[in-house]
Amino acid sequence: MAKKSVTDLNVTGKKVIVRVDFNVPHKGDVVTDDNRIVAALPTINYLTEHGAKVILLSHLGKVKHKDPVETEQMMKKNDMSIVAKALQALVPETKVTFVNATRGEELEKAISEMHEGEIVLMQNTRYEKGEEKNDPELGAYWASLGDLYVSDAFGSVHRAHASTAGIPTHLPSAVGFLIEKELKYLGQALDNPARPFVAVLGGAKVSDKIAVIDNLLKIADKVIVGGGMAYTFYKAMGYEVGTSLLEEDKVAIAKEFIEKGQGKLILPIDNVVANDFDNPTEVKVVAADSIPSDFMGMDIGPKTIELFTKELQGAKTVFWNGPMGVFEKEGFEKGTVGVCKAIAELDDCMSVIGGGDSASAAKNLGYASSFTHISTGGGASLEYMEGKVLPGIAVIEEK
Ligand code: 3PG
Repeated sequence: MAKKSVTDLNVTGKKVIVRVDFNVPHKGDVVTDDNRIVAALPTINYLTEHGAKVILLSHLGKVKHKDPVETEQMMKKNDMSIVAKALQALVPETKVTFVNATRGEELEKAISEMHEGEIVLMQNTRYEKGEEKNDPELGAYWASLGDLYVSDAFGSVHRAHASTAGIPTHLPSAVGFLIEKELKYLGQALDNPARPFVAVLGGAKVSDKIAVIDNLLKIADKVIVGGGMAYTFYKAMGYEVGTSLLEEDKVAIAKEFIEKGQGKLILPIDNVVANDFDNPTEVKVVAADSIPSDFMGMDIGPKTIELFTKELQGAKTVFWNGPMGVFEKEGFEKGTVGVCKAIAELDDCMSVIGGGDSASAAKNLGYASSFTHISTGGGASLEYMEGKVLPGIAVIEEK
């Protein structure tokens, strides 16, 4: 069954609490990538255009509540006021009021003074200790500030927090346009992929990807594995990996995947290796089984780029998550660029990037528009592709 949509709610004149994911990269008081804010605009604009009073809630960064001095520093670093400025610049015709509080008189007054079509953005939800614990009192309090709840924070729906999972237990709820879009593309890949379906998984650690590899080995026609985690697979195959990244405790599961994935699992056949991570003075390309003992894998090699490109040919659905190497370091980006290019150039293919580093890579390389969908949720899209129930979506009312 489909979730209720924001268009199913009668929002005019109502106070609508919208959980967005404005957890955006920022440096000092400047938002360096406003993609997540832009992605939430269709829902925000729909609501203001339909006369709702829009109360936006989001977290920003991490705020731990253990040591008071540290908490203070984390709060300062993750002050939502900078996001309010970025949002106001994107919706110049709409009044955006930032409230430097997460509860109390100032917040309640600002909400009571709102007119239809206006926005109030509250301070970072993680300023509250109870947010990440889904404290029932906090969820009930925030719910008391509004009439309706709309979730459009796809990047946060894998978190069962007060703002994502607590509030909607008290109010009529629906999902916004961003979540609908995310579920459409990720859902199609997971539940009804046009075939062949090729998954491309990279990144440093097998431990981060165990559940997704497991699930995609069942669903996809091919699972291509690159990045740092490939070396744990090499170890499982009996190859020496030199000083490459290795998770000894994951060798057994890698072995299991190799056995289960016969004919489906595709690993790099050569690698770009270096004598040092920070200061590589010697760099060479070696075959998978020939990594010298004092060298570490930094990227997939040219033969692997060719192999992966060939394996991707004819794919009708592609899900890509994770870089193929240390792409942020000059000289070790070719694998990630090669894979990105190979996917971007596929004809008649639904290509989805599961957020995170691969999304930044596609954007920085200028290929973003060649993908069908780039998810705004790194962790959330991975958990979705693992087949997990996402608490922030499960809690929303069905149509
Ligand atoms: C993200 O950036 O992946 C989301 O905003 C979730 O953030 P979190 O990992 O800090 O919960």
